Amino acid sequence: MRLQNKVAIVTGAARGIGAAIAQRFAEEGAWVVATDIAAAGEEVVEEIAAKGQKAVFFQGDVSKAADVQALLAFAKETYGVPTVLCNNAAINVPGSVIELEEEVWDRTMEVNVKSMFLTGKYIVPEMIEAGGGSVVNMASANSFAAEPRLSAYVTSKGAIHMLTKQMALDFAAEKVRVNCICPGWVDTTFNDAHADLFGGRENVLKSISEFQPIGRTIQPVEIANVAVFLASDESSAMTGSAVLVDGGLTSK
Ligand SMILES: NC(=O)c1ccc[n+]([C@@H]2O[C@H](COP(=O)([O-])OP(=O)(O)OC[C@H]3O[C@@H](n4cnc5c(N)ncnc54)[C@H](O)[C@@H]3O)[C@@H](O)[C@H]2O)c1
Repeated sequence: MRLQNKVAIVTGAARGIGAAIAQRFAEEGAWVVATDIAAAGEEVVEEIAAKGQKAVFFQGDVSKAADVQALLAFAKETYGVPTVLCNNAAINVPGSVIELEEEVWDRTMEVNVKSMFLTGKYIVPEMIEAGGGSVVNMASANSFAAEPRLSAYVTSKGAIHMLTKQMALDFAAEKVRVNCICPGWVDTTFNDAHADLFGGRENVLKSISEFQPIGRTIQPVEIANVAVFLASDESSAMTGSAVLVDGGLTSK
C-alpha cells in the first residue's frame, strides 16, 4: 500500500486517465476525492467503493475559484487535508491559430492551465501546513514537441511543464514536491477530434508505429502507475521533473 491513508484529490476523474488514476490511488490505500465537471464521476467512485476502497465524488469546474475552494472544503470535511493533488483535467480542441475561435483559446487556457494555478493557490498552503505533499500535473509529449493544428492545446501543455518546475522551486523547502507526467498517445476518446482532421482515429492508429515506437496506444493504467509512484514517498527526491510516458514518441 504505497499511498496508505493519504488524502488524494484527482481532477478530471470521470473517465479516461483520471478515472484510472482514481482507481489506482484507491487500490494503493489512498482516500480519493475524485472531481470532474461531468456527473459520470459518481459511477467511478461507486465502482471503487464497491471494492471496499475509499473514494468520494465532487462535481465542479476546476477552472473556477469558487469550485476549487468548495472542492477543498469537501475534501477536508470528508477525509481531511489532502496531501496528494493530481491535476489531470483538460480539454483538447484542435485548430491552428487561424482556425480557433478566441473563446476556445481562452477556455483551453482556463481549464488546462489556470486550474493548476487555482488548485495550487488554495490546496498547496494546506499541504505546507500538514508538513508536505505531492502535486502530480498531467502534461503531455506536447510539452516538448508541437503538432500541426493543435495550437491552444500544445501551448497549454508547454505552460504546465514550466509551471511544474516553477512551483517545484517555490515549495521544495516546505516539502511540497511538484512533478508532471508527459504521456504519448493514450487510448481514450480525448484525441478523437484531432484524429478526425487526419482521416479519423482508425486511420491514425493504423500508422501508430510511425509516431509511437512501441507500436500501440498506451493504456490509461500505464499512466496511472506512474502517477502512483510520483504521488508516493518512493519518489521523495523528485521535484520539478517531467516524466515522459510516451512509448518512445519524443525519442524519434
Ligand atoms: N489521451 C491522450 O492521448 C493524452 C496524451 C497526453 C496527455 N493527456 C492528458 O491526460 C489528461 C487526461 O486525458 P484523457 O485522455 O483521460 O481525457 P478525457 O477527455 O477522457 O478526460 C478528461 C476529463 O476531464 C474532465 N474535465 C474537462 N474540463 C473540466 C473542468 N473544467 N473541470 C473539471 N473536469 C473537467 C472531463 O469531463 C473528462 O472527464 C489530460 O490532461 C490530457 O491532456 C492525454
